[in-house]
Amino acid sequence: MERNIEIAVIPVAGKGTRSYPITKVISKTMFPIVNKPVVHYLLEELISANIKEVILVLNKSQKDIIKYLKKTPDLISKIKIHYIYQQIPRGIGDALLRCKKIIKQRDFCLLLGDDLICCDNVCYGIKNLIEEYIVRNTSILGVKEIQVEETNKYGIVDVVENKVLRVVEKPKVNPPSNKALIGRYIFKNTFYDYLSKVVLDNENEIKITDAINLMSSKENIYIKELNDIRFDIGNIVDYILANIKYLNIDDKKEIKKKLHYFM
Ligand code: G1P
Repeated sequence: MERNIEIAVIPVAGKGTRSYPITKVISKTMFPIVNKPVVHYLLEELISANIKEVILVLNKSQKDIIKYLKKTPDLISKIKIHYIYQQIPRGIGDALLRCKKIIKQRDFCLLLGDDLICCDNVCYGIKNLIEEYIVRNTSILGVKEIQVEETNKYGIVDVVENKVLRVVEKPKVNPPSNKALIGRYIFKNTFYDYLSKVVLDNENEIKITDAINLMSSKENIYIKELNDIRFDIGNIVDYILANIKYLNIDDKKEIKKKLHYFM
């Protein structure tokens, strides 16, 4: 049987402090982009990559997500959704550890809910990563080139011929490159062996970056550069731009006409 990825994890239990105060009552993944919440776009991205199952890692107050998805039968008939709870936000590593019993021995992909990646009106980030995974049979990290001034906001990869040597999380000085992790990953199941060795850091989180670095010293990991547009939903300018991007052409023209009133 051809190698493939059939399950994804989307951790959304984080507090969303960058977007306070609104995230005290609305999950960031429920922010509307035009008339659909972010999570809807993420699930469409998975469906277009032929993913059959997804685990949403939530905290117990995020009932709005479950309510929305229940009312969107067209979407959830195409993908099976599991809900797992992470009451205390202990990082993405901790969220992944909670998913192991559903993932079992399978390789899997991880999407971070802050990142919307789109080309035209469809998001193909994960699909592109899966194509690379099928060829290489290794873990694959999605990256995008960014301005050097921005490298302190992201995980930055050190690579030789697309092979990952290490990842430096939000380097304050001397970034190893200008290629940033953009919230799209495919992991071989052995990633769990490394994740189980990572301890809570000084922010009380289990960081996947630490597990990626353990893995890269033992196994090959490759990057896949994505050329699509990426919107960071926790950043207000990107959030507004994402809304403009998904408007229909007439509404875009209307915005163009009226924008000068405010600028
Ligand atoms: C996380 C990751 C970081 C990655 C970023 C992409 O950071 O830790 O490596 O570059 O997502 O959005 P966060 O934005 O959660 O601080």
